[in-house]
Order: sequence, then structure tokens, then C-alpha cells
Amino acid sequence: MICVSGQPKEQVVTRTSFALTQEQIPTHWYNIVADLPEPMAPPLHPGTKKPATASDMSAIFVDSIIEQEMSAQRFIEIPQPVREAYALWRPTPLLRAVRLERELQTPAHIYYKYEGVSPAGSHKPNSAVAQAYYNKQAGVKRLATETGAGQWGSSLALACGMFGLECTVYMVKVSFHQKPYRRMLMETWGATVHASPSEQTNYGRKVLRENPDCPGSLGIAISEAIEDTVSTPHTKYALGSVLNHVCLHQTVIGTETIEQMKLAWEEPDVVIGCAGGGSNFAGISFPFVRQNLTQGKKTRIVAVEPSSCASLTQGQMRYDFGDTAEMTPLMMMYTLGHQFVPPSIHAGGLRYHGMAPTVSHLKKLGLIDAVAYPQEAVFQAATIFAKTEGIVPAPESSHAIRAAIDEALLARNEGRKRVIVFNLSGHGLMDMSAYDAYLNGKLTDGK
Ligand SMILES: Cc1ncc(COP(=O)(O)O)c(C=O)c1O
Repeated sequence: MICVSGQPKEQVVTRTSFALTQEQIPTHWYNIVADLPEPMAPPLHPGTKKPATASDMSAIFVDSIIEQEMSAQRFIEIPQPVREAYALWRPTPLLRAVRLERELQTPAHIYYKYEGVSPAGSHKPNSAVAQAYYNKQAGVKRLATETGAGQWGSSLALACGMFGLECTVYMVKVSFHQKPYRRMLMETWGATVHASPSEQTNYGRKVLRENPDCPGSLGIAISEAIEDTVSTPHTKYALGSVLNHVCLHQTVIGTETIEQMKLAWEEPDVVIGCAGGGSNFAGISFPFVRQNLTQGKKTRIVAVEPSSCASLTQGQMRYDFGDTAEMTPLMMMYTLGHQFVPPSIHAGGLRYHGMAPTVSHLKKLGLIDAVAYPQEAVFQAATIFAKTEGIVPAPESSHAIRAAIDEALLARNEGRKRVIVFNLSGHGLMDMSAYDAYLNGKLTDGK
């Protein structure tokens, strides 16, 4: 109650925040492989083209990670030290974007799960801390990895610092120059960072000889990190997306969201996530896909990608390599071809030629939808969101915002309520040069 001019008045505030306690940090990750109506095609050894075995993967991953990669167990327990690391920022908030709804004059209710509250500013630490933990347990001393926009590299740098491991990051060259603060962040957390293609590896030197101005790509950076791993003692490799175990670790996002939507007394009609390699999309959506598969729910699930690197909507479902140098196993996935070098768009984390095999498989079975947007439309949505909700979103996450806004506008045109949930996978406070380019009419990708 507040008192205005001596008269007591009810103060009604629309609830916008749906918080869980630290005791409610999920105890298990959800493995969608257990509930697939059709099994996935196995990864193949790059040389023999036979199904890859655990020992094929042991050069780059420790046993506990390989076990998760190949597991069909529905729920996998989260080790206590990982839950304790999660407690630094989890459970993350679920917020209702009431100001955005008002701006759009829509009857839709728009909710967003905000992963930007992690120390690195995105969802990526959900897997980074798990991978660092398992490697430390197995006696590994150093991890090598690639990073696109720098979100994964900084997350792994953070996680290695927490568990006492060295960390070397191959950062896609275009992002290395576009995002110097990401590099500084990684170095602050103790990592060594190389612009990829680099002079550090045979493969990097080869690419530079052929094209000294190569802007780099995730595929090239992965090849460099794998070469570094297999040629350096006590080193293993960590991947920030695509693989089953990474998607698995991210499911804490959707598991929390389901509990938070109960606090809001609503159920989503549509769940949206942006998709680069597929991990944050998997994280928000797989627990909802499970409800569709096992509880007869009919939630629409939408992956959003950039038009200039649109594997799910324009790629082919076939076996392809995860990297450019053909070192990884062949995976059955939607791909634009492993030689594809995407344009230098600002959503650096979405510049990957392929898509997680689990996400690809769901798309092939018609269990999820996918849409693609050009960069300009995405930044337009990002600035509407920033002005109404306050948070400056990461360019990657802004793809999900664009799709959520379009769903809300459709609801307005149809004159019916719709409950929309999207994953705001990160903040954009280290992406301000991208906003500067947008605000000054300098975005180059017109697709
Ligand atoms: C904020 C953010 N969202 C999304 C992505 C896309 O990656 P993924 O599809 O693995 O979630 C990235 C990748 O770096 C990112 O930094």
C-alpha cells in the first residue's frame, strides 16, 4: 500500500521477474538422445569412414567427456563442484519483457531467460566449467580451444582459472580485431590467445600462405586447436558447441526455465533460441522438446540463424567435417560445407558452417523449426529491446529477439494472446563496435 494525498491506494505492479533459489540449481543434465523417436547416425572416423569409437576420440578428449558424448542415459548427474561453480551465477533470471510488449502493442506475453549474468556474459560457461572440471579430474594440465566472437574462449579461460588449468585459445581473426576487449578478458583470466589463422600451427601457416588476408573461421580455428592438442603433451581439446556433451551441459537453461514458467503460471506456445553451433538453442529447447515427445505437449520450437550463414535453412543434411582441415570425425548434420568461409558479420558466434547433430536430427524429423534473418533486421530488433528492456543484447542473441518480436507482432495482427519464451544467450557490452556500425549505417552484410 502507498499513501497518496492521505488516501491509501493499492499499488499494482506487473510481475516481471521469476527467480529460483540456489538450492534449485538443477542436479542433472538432460540428454535428448534417450528420447529420440529415431536414432541418430553415428559420427564416422575421418580416415576409415567407420563409426568413430571411444578410442578414436581419446587423443583429444578425456574418458568422462567421451562417455557423455556417446551416452544414451536420460539424466546425467551434475558433479557437486560444477554445481558450486554454477552457483556463482545460476539460477539465471527469467524475466517478462512487459515494456517490450507495450512498445509492440501486442497481446503476447514475452519471457526471456537471461544467460548474460554469467561472469563471461553468456551461456558458454555452463559447459566450460563442466569440461574444465572433468579434464582436471583426469590429470590434464592444459586445454586448447577455438573461439568465434570470444564468448567461448573467455568462458573456458574463466573455467580453467577456476579449476587450475592452462588455457590456449585460437580466436577467429576477424573477431580478434573487432573485439579486443574479449581478448583482454581472456588474458585477464590467464589464457594465451592467438589470432587464427596463426603462425602457431602447420595448418594456420598453410592457410596464411594461400590467403594472407584470410579473416578466419570457426572451422579453421578448430583445426588449429586440434593440431595444437595432439602435438602438445598433457593437453586436451575443448569445444564450445556442436557436440552432444556440450548441448547436454547447456540443458540447465531449459530445465530452470520450465520451473520458472510455473512461477509465472504460464506455458510457452513457442520457445526460441539463436543457433550457431546449436548449444544455447539446445540448452533452452531440449527440455521443452522432451515435454513434446513424452507428455504430448505441442510447444513450437524455433532456431534462428543469420541469413549469411544459414546451415539449418539453406544447408544440406549430410556427413561433413566439423573443421576445415578435415581432422574431426564426420558428423551427420545440416552443413554449408566445411570449406565455407562465412562473411564477417558481427554475430561472430553464429559464423559456423554446420549445426549440432542433435539439433540437425530434430530438424530433419520435423520436431523443430528454423528461420533466418539478415543482420540489419537483427540489429533493429536489438535496439528496440535495449531501449525497452535496458539490456544491450549480444548480436547472436538478438537473432532470437528478432524472431520473438515477429511472433509478438503476428499475435497482435491475429488479435490473440501467445506466450513466447526466448533465450537471451548473452549481453552485448563487448560488442559496442557492432552497434556503432549499425547506428552509423555501416553494416556491410545486406542479406
Ligand atoms: C552470446 C552467444 N549466443 C549464441 C552463440 C552461438 O553459439 P551456440 O549456437 O553454440 O549457442 C554464441 C557463440 O559464441 C554466443 O556468444
